[in-house]
Amino acid sequence: MSVQWSDSERAAGRSLPAAYFYDPSVFERERLRIFFRSWHLVAHVNDLKSPGDFVTHNILEQSVLVTRSKGGEIRAFHNVCQHRGNRLIDAPRGHTPAITCAYHAWTYALDGKLRGAPRTECVQGFDKSQHSLKPVRVEVFAAFVFVNLDPDAQSVADMAPGAEAVIRQHLPDLDRLTLIEQVDVPVPANWKVIQENSIEGYHFDYSGPVHKQLVKLIDFDGYTLEAYDKYWTYIGPPQKNVTHAYGVPLANARWQTDGFFNIGLWPNATIYAFPYSDVVGTFIMNPTGPESSSLRFGYYAVEGRPLSDLTRACIRWMNEELGPEDIRLNISNQKGLRSLGFSQGRYLIGDGLNNRSEHLVRHFHELCHAAISS
Ligand code: FES
Ligand SMILES: [Fe+2]
Repeated sequence: MSVQWSDSERAAGRSLPAAYFYDPSVFERERLRIFFRSWHLVAHVNDLKSPGDFVTHNILEQSVLVTRSKGGEIRAFHNVCQHRGNRLIDAPRGHTPAITCAYHAWTYALDGKLRGAPRTECVQGFDKSQHSLKPVRVEVFAAFVFVNLDPDAQSVADMAPGAEAVIRQHLPDLDRLTLIEQVDVPVPANWKVIQENSIEGYHFDYSGPVHKQLVKLIDFDGYTLEAYDKYWTYIGPPQKNVTHAYGVPLANARWQTDGFFNIGLWPNATIYAFPYSDVVGTFIMNPTGPESSSLRFGYYAVEGRPLSDLTRACIRWMNEELGPEDIRLNISNQKGLRSLGFSQGRYLIGDGLNNRSEHLVRHFHELCHAAISS
């Protein structure tokens, strides 16, 4: 990797050099050292409620299949047939009693064991037990399901001590959530450009009318961004005297939090809730190339509780107004990073910046740099 971020640049408050956001050799190191070694949020436990429920999740060219087995355990496997390497399931989610390869019909139980393989009785010494699906690490943390391609990775709980308590404090119905909508949005920007945008409040005042609406819904002066090594929170306390949100009166509405709650987990997952909305969002910044990403927005409501007008308005506002306002910035930021007139940025970090400080951006850059430099 020829790109460098020097100690003197870092000491001078200069940010991760622009080439880190488009150089293919940097991206290749991120692929192997970040994305193949870290935890990926793939589902809520309730997405895998019954035996036979499954989800698939792609980590660049790798695909992982996560199932609820007959015995009730959640299991994860590389999504590939052990006969000749056919991808097993393309659907993002579904329900199946067993996993049958579409090529030659090898059939695997939900626990990954090969159960049927046509005509193999004619093959001397064929031993089904030698051809189980290859397992992938899977853990449930704070009611969400995470997978990791690295068999030696530390657990999510060890990576993010204290995070589950923070999540539960702000999202009281965490265990009762059910997916109501999932949207994948391709964005021509490096995944880190998107993450940077989400972890600073400096742009809230300046970047467009929808951000100003968000600022009015919270006590923006009290917006607090905290780094805890491999996770970070950015939380806006409630604003007093709010009567409407997203164009809908608050009267009779229920919500998860009256503030703006976000927690980011290394490297690319965010769990959040908007003020007064009875929905929990997941936001996953999946890289698809050095200068492209696929943003996955998941919306989870409380099972059995009908969506209020306010919650519906919030989801629409996020999908059609706030999200696009940020995505326009992501795209123009990516274009600018390619300019011959730009080499690296300057962090806005200093006394008194508080809610507008970019210390989480620096923290995130340091984590990325450490991961790919080691
Ligand atoms: S590749 Fe799956 S059964 Fe042949
Ligand atoms: Fe934003």
